[in-house]
Amino acid sequence: MSQSAFEQAASLRSEMAAENPTSLEELEAFRIAFLGSKNRIKPLFGLIRDIPNEKKKEFGQLLNEIKTEAEEKFERRKRELSAEEESKAADKIDLTAPAYPYEQGARHPISLALNRIIDIFSRIGFEVVEDREIEDQWHNFTALNTPEDHPARDMQDTFYLQGSTEYVLRTHTSSVQARHMTNHEPPIRIIAPGRVYRNETVSARSHCQFHQVEGLYVDKNVSMADMKQTLLYFARAMYGPDTRIRLRPSYFPFTEPSAEMDVYWGLENEDDERMTKGTGWLEVLGCGMVDPNVLEMCGIDPTVYSGFAFGMGIERQAMRAHKINDIRLLFENDIRFLRQFTSAL
Ligand code: PHE
Repeated sequence: MSQSAFEQAASLRSEMAAENPTSLEELEAFRIAFLGSKNRIKPLFGLIRDIPNEKKKEFGQLLNEIKTEAEEKFERRKRELSAEEESKAADKIDLTAPAYPYEQGARHPISLALNRIIDIFSRIGFEVVEDREIEDQWHNFTALNTPEDHPARDMQDTFYLQGSTEYVLRTHTSSVQARHMTNHEPPIRIIAPGRVYRNETVSARSHCQFHQVEGLYVDKNVSMADMKQTLLYFARAMYGPDTRIRLRPSYFPFTEPSAEMDVYWGLENEDDERMTKGTGWLEVLGCGMVDPNVLEMCGIDPTVYSGFAFGMGIERQAMRAHKINDIRLLFENDIRFLRQFTSAL
């Protein structure tokens, strides 16, 4: 005697429960067998008509349960298997494969030099201050004790804004001294980096735009000895622990006395000869004690306070550090030039 409909359903159910598809292919076979258009549950529905009426409902329910079980099992295994598949794919990543060739950026040689200078001065408590490049005559010249008829004010040397006799492109970062002193009380200890402009013919050695770093220290009892020691510290941090410096008397309208600082570079070869103009000494910066007139004009009492200031060009430092022989290279943004600084810090 053939199995009863209930027995057939029960055996299909247990057969299905025993199935455990372990790959996406096996899962597909499961789907075809139990959920596809010719699935194995379907023929059982045909048996309903031979079942006594009072059992029909029970049998129908049983078949529906089997169908639901098939669907649930399929969905669950599908989720589990695709998760497994994904983690397997991740395991396949070849960690020994060469890295994707990302382009490494480069810092501009001016930034490299500037960062070094900032780092050296910040270690002894100098704070970085930045200010505007379009400056009025008062901050660029007058407050810095530069008389009305001083040649630096001449259009030959200074860029004036078109149609203006008042606004200039700042000719030095000393304008930031004036700005800072007018609204800060001593003690003041700042360095002010930035771009400056002078009306000069562009050549391999000079440009109409360049960068400077200004330093200013104002407090009670600041002396020339403090200035010298600070600059010696800087020179040794910048050029090496045995570096020697010398201060040559000079003139700036805003400092008194004024000096130029040289570092001893050596005279060993033709390059040294050319760079130091045959003296062995390299000119690095201008400096001096802040003129009492400047303190006064900026609202600081010169009978109580004194200070020193210095200013240096950054291009020269960068050119020296990287043996760059034409200043124009620093402003042309030629990628072949800039790429050479990829690994520089
Ligand atoms: N401002 C001067 C220059 O541009 C440099 C300097 C700054 C000198 C501060 C003395 C003090 O050459």
